[in-house]
Amino acid sequence: MDISGLREKIENEISSIRNIEDLKRIRVSVLGRKGTFTDYIDKLKTLDKELRREAGKTINEVKSWAEERLGELERRFEEIEKKKREQASLIDITMPGKKPLFGKKHPLTQTLEEIIRIFGSLGFAVAEGPDIEAEYYNFEALNIPSDHPARDMQDTFYIRPGVVLRTHTSPVQIRVMESQLPPVKIIAPGCVYRCDNDISHTPMFHQVEGLMVDKNVRFSDLKGILSIFIHEMFGPDTPLRFRPSYFPFTEPSAEVDIGCVICAGKGCRVCKDTGWLEILGSGMVHPQVFRNVGYDQEEITGFAFGMGVERIAMIRYGIDDIRQFYYNDIRFLSQF
Ligand code: PHE
Repeated sequence: MDISGLREKIENEISSIRNIEDLKRIRVSVLGRKGTFTDYIDKLKTLDKELRREAGKTINEVKSWAEERLGELERRFEEIEKKKREQASLIDITMPGKKPLFGKKHPLTQTLEEIIRIFGSLGFAVAEGPDIEAEYYNFEALNIPSDHPARDMQDTFYIRPGVVLRTHTSPVQIRVMESQLPPVKIIAPGCVYRCDNDISHTPMFHQVEGLMVDKNVRFSDLKGILSIFIHEMFGPDTPLRFRPSYFPFTEPSAEVDIGCVICAGKGCRVCKDTGWLEILGSGMVHPQVFRNVGYDQEEITGFAFGMGVERIAMIRYGIDDIRQFYYNDIRFLSQF
């Protein structure tokens, strides 16, 4: 038996180890029960005593060297694996990123903020009033006595006799005028409530009221301010018209229409083939309203207007069902 090649053979095998798999495989083929050493030890039997002792010694030396070396390699590979695992549990900057979901303002909030911004730039301050309102402020003070047919225009939720959920933001006009002398230049945004529920009505919706009172406020001021608002809101080329109308608290009254944004005036389902979309009510403050708040209606004049925020948002974004605003469907809301 030739023992001289053993050391070299084992050294070569061990130095070819590159990874933990190599290590496992070579450990078996070298130290295993059917491995190189077992082979050599078996062959020892064929040698005579003297040579056997020599060879046995060499085999044992090489074997313990191999064991030590393989153990060393194993510890090193384990260390590397451990480092790899640690790194993997940290941040892998080569992974594709997860897109964070950003919250967005509700389309009604965005629309309301735009309305407030435009009127703010025209010098209107924001005023607020209560949602639960005295019948007096919601109706009587606005020249709508209880037997007035105009009460039917708004299906009122009564909390108890004399107390309602406000059906419009116009009572804020009264509250502001009761608490300050002219000049007044406010807008009043807020929730309003009407017993109504279909594709174009929800029982709660939002309005923005406007009121400007001073000496010499004229209908032309109303037209000017509302024209600026519409051109800011819907674009400078938006056609608009003032159409005579009726509200108990304004005289004369006008509703304002804009050219249908869907069909550009040609006539469609949305504008009911008229080519126009009604977007707000307005008029010169009725003298009786001034008397009700103690303003001298010989001295001052004013105009008021009111608009539905949902309606403006529907036109602005081309939404055909008002209830979409309230389903809280993230797929709908994330579009704006
Ligand atoms: N309050 C009226 C409504 O809800 C709108 C309006 C406000 C009209 C102010 C004229 C002046 O329909």
